[in-house]
Amino acid sequence: MARKKITVIGAGNVGATVAHRLVDKELGDVVLVDIIEGLPQGKALDLAESTPVLGCDVRVVGSNGYRETADSDIIVITAGVPRKPGMSRSDLLTINTDIVRGATQEAVKYSPNAILIVVSNPLDAMAYVAYKVSGFPRERVFGMAGILDTARMRYFIAEELGVSVEDVFAFVLGSHGDEMVPLVRYSSVAGIPLADLLPKEKIEAIVKRTREGGAEIVSLLKAGSAYYAPSAAVVEMVEAVLKDKKKIRPCSVYLDGEYGIKGVFLGVPVKLGASGVEQILEIGLTLEERAALHRSAEAVRALIESIQL
Ligand code: NAI
Ligand code: 2OP
Repeated sequence: MARKKITVIGAGNVGATVAHRLVDKELGDVVLVDIIEGLPQGKALDLAESTPVLGCDVRVVGSNGYRETADSDIIVITAGVPRKPGMSRSDLLTINTDIVRGATQEAVKYSPNAILIVVSNPLDAMAYVAYKVSGFPRERVFGMAGILDTARMRYFIAEELGVSVEDVFAFVLGSHGDEMVPLVRYSSVAGIPLADLLPKEKIEAIVKRTREGGAEIVSLLKAGSAYYAPSAAVVEMVEAVLKDKKKIRPCSVYLDGEYGIKGVFLGVPVKLGASGVEQILEIGLTLEERAALHRSAEAVRALIESIQL
């Protein structure tokens, strides 16, 4: 069987770390693309030179163009700029829309059957851009955020209780932003509901820290944002698709009436397999949870409506 091919657009912190993890796991050949001359080539060569030590038979190449990406099975889009001082949210939206639009147009020209996993921020809006520009069915375009936000919540719970991270299950839905929706009712430790293990104030503190998880890392790093946990989350999605795992994970997908929401990308539980998003699961929500999910959707809608494609 031929090896799978994964393109990662943007060879910065997230993109390069995704490539690193893909190589370590021997998930397939990797093409790194960036506009900075030498950057993707240098990182790809360095990664390629690690393969004899790791015993991984994969090809890794870097490029400033898209010819090398032809016939990719999966394309991960991490290209973008982070917010700089003095920049408004809409400035970032405009710049990254242009970057994601261009990257998507080029990538899909060479890989019309690929699955697109979007990472660039603002996540749900950028996933929408890739969806619209690619013209792909929604099963093949989705965004990474929920696995990261969930991982943060799981880590905080495990740390608080002093238990294995493997035992902790959590669910974070909604947008990747201030309006994200951590679902305490669906969070548990070895099947025991979280509410039976921690007092309300502790749970509230964990929910708050989860919501502010991205900002916490930015305030520590000062320059740049998180990339180790984000790249791990992306690679879990890539692996679920390539190995047809049928994993149920929160991902940002285009909603067409599910949860009573239409026309926006939003984080909801989906089944990830060889075809991409194979199913959107509609879990039961209380009135309060549903209202929070709808607020989240409206925040994404406001962003999407200001995008000119
Ligand atoms: P970074 O600044 O380290 O890397 C971005 C790379 O994109 C740079 O190397 C830059 O040269 C490249 N780039 C810019 N324009 C390009 C174009 N037109 N074509 C190809 N490459 C281009 O940033 P980092 O930390 O890697 O983050 C990347 C994006 O992912 C950001 O928008 C960030 O906010 C987002 N992000 C999203 C997360 C999520 O949960 N969805 C988590 C972490 C980051
Ligand atoms: C995060 O949550 C920056 O979106 C990124 O870390």
